[in-house]
Amino acid sequence: MCGIVAYIGHRQAYPVIIKGLKRLEYRGYDSAGVALLNHGVKLYKKKGKVANLEESTLGRDLEAHIGIGHTRWATHGEPSDRNAHPHRSANGKLAMIHNGIIENYASLKQELIKKGYQFLSDTDTEVLLYFIEDIQKNNSSTLEEALRIALKRVVGAYVIVLIDQDNPDTLIAARKGSPLVIGIGKGEHFLASDASPIIEYTKEVVYVNDYEIAIIKPDELILKNLGNERQTPFIQKLDLELAAIEKGGYDHFMLKEIFEQPHTIYDCLRGRLDVAQGTITMSGIRNNMEQIKNANRILIIACGTSWHAGLVAEYVIEELCRIPVEVEYASEFRYRNPIIHKGDMIIAISQSGETADTLVAIERAKEQGAVILGIVNVVGSSISRISHAGAYTHAGPEIGVASTKAFTAQLTVLTMVALMIAKERATISHDRYIHLLNELNEVPEKVKHALENAEHIKAVALKYKDVSDALFLGRGYNFPIALEGALKLKEISYIHAEGYPAAEMKHGPIALVDESLPVVFVATKDTCHEKIISNIQEIKARKGKVIAVITEGDEIITGMADDVLPVPEADELIAPIISTIPLQLFSYYIGVAKGYDVDKPRNLAKSVTVE
Ligand code: AGP
Repeated sequence: MCGIVAYIGHRQAYPVIIKGLKRLEYRGYDSAGVALLNHGVKLYKKKGKVANLEESTLGRDLEAHIGIGHTRWATHGEPSDRNAHPHRSANGKLAMIHNGIIENYASLKQELIKKGYQFLSDTDTEVLLYFIEDIQKNNSSTLEEALRIALKRVVGAYVIVLIDQDNPDTLIAARKGSPLVIGIGKGEHFLASDASPIIEYTKEVVYVNDYEIAIIKPDELILKNLGNERQTPFIQKLDLELAAIEKGGYDHFMLKEIFEQPHTIYDCLRGRLDVAQGTITMSGIRNNMEQIKNANRILIIACGTSWHAGLVAEYVIEELCRIPVEVEYASEFRYRNPIIHKGDMIIAISQSGETADTLVAIERAKEQGAVILGIVNVVGSSISRISHAGAYTHAGPEIGVASTKAFTAQLTVLTMVALMIAKERATISHDRYIHLLNELNEVPEKVKHALENAEHIKAVALKYKDVSDALFLGRGYNFPIALEGALKLKEISYIHAEGYPAAEMKHGPIALVDESLPVVFVATKDTCHEKIISNIQEIKARKGKVIAVITEGDEIITGMADDVLPVPEADELIAPIISTIPLQLFSYYIGVAKGYDVDKPRNLAKSVTVE
């Protein structure tokens, strides 16, 4: 899940590429590099963030109108200068960047070593480059032909972009599995893993499909398949503003995205929820309602935070629609021989729409006849394109690696989907339906109110910044929120944190409790409230430190807990959207207090495009 950027045109390529890499740094920041073509290939690469690369190129010859750049998330070979991309071919004429994994690289490498090739890095990418070079040499073919032949033998996922000393006016790129967007300018083209490096130059883009090769000149874009047949580029207009990908005065993208939630949830509801009419309109769902409402079973497939959204959706859909729901970790579902019946409905949840585990899992399910509904944030992403239908979450670009606004938007969309199905199946009373529409409509305001508590949440967070472990507990709808709270703390502060159903404590984890362990309860008022109070007493009885997310005015828990994080009252089915807010801020303030880069936590990347 690296970030790739390339440019060809009339501008200086280096500044365009460096700026683009900084925009994509959330995709990986183990090393960065650039290769420029101007009387030969000039290659610069450095371990660490793009800023390190910039520093290392000061005073160097950066003159060029064509170039490729890469920011890395290491898979094969540790983060280092020699494993950084771009890689140069053995004859020095080609340079290549790659995002993805070449699964059969080891056998290809053996073949090449037998032919006398010596490798400078441990990467699968260098192996693929030498493999292409070797085919070109032995077949006296053009680079494009050699690439086509090579890619027919490659197993894995890739976006690759090459520059060639012998073709100084051409970029060549290919895609399978990893994302590639091409921006079309006047006499120039921009290539990137997503639209964020392109938007300030052009809104005209082409999303390259799997098994396509792109041959790009300053004023020409040719797309072909691996059968050498021309493909017609489908040009789309980006609906994205530059401001959306800037920090807007906040210290971090994560904080900006947390505070954007009243707007992003409103954007999610806008044009869909009509309380006055008592309707919810989502055409992607509406057009497939016959299949959806008659589904025997709904399988939700996702990873990470999106999986937690799926878990909340399981509770909501089963409650409202009375359809059995199973929530699957995509990576496990993919390799377990899952039973899929015709008529099974799959809901795939993904912020990036590019998560490889989820992508391959739904491709597999689709092959077996399942209908795929995509709940996705990134417009034009792979999951949105292979789904039969779906709904966008309209949270705008999410740049902080830790997902926040996309999560609350996912919960909002999934709740609307459940209400639409329940109405169609007549499994919900009219009064309850209207009540929940009103509750949904009030969420943006309630989230705004919860955010006004930020300073208090910060003060509580700073009390616990030096702990080494934490437990997050919840019951019912709040259990997945406890899991999400634990994930946020892990991601941002590197504190070992676990989420659990509160009642599960007695079956083991309570052994962990002593005066040094903070236990965060998601304990807003709901049908399990009495039970959660007993669970809090069990922890207090063992001197555990209790921090509780409570419904404003809950005197009982306020009297029991060491610290409380109040949120406005809401129906228990809607409350998860609101009760997650204080946990996002709790993690953020601890991460910042510990001096960590909360937007780019160690070892993580925003979209996991390799299995
Ligand atoms: C969440 O904060 C993480 N970034 C990660 O768990 C993420 O939710 C997961 O990788 C799934 O990503 P997706 O929603 O883009 O598919």
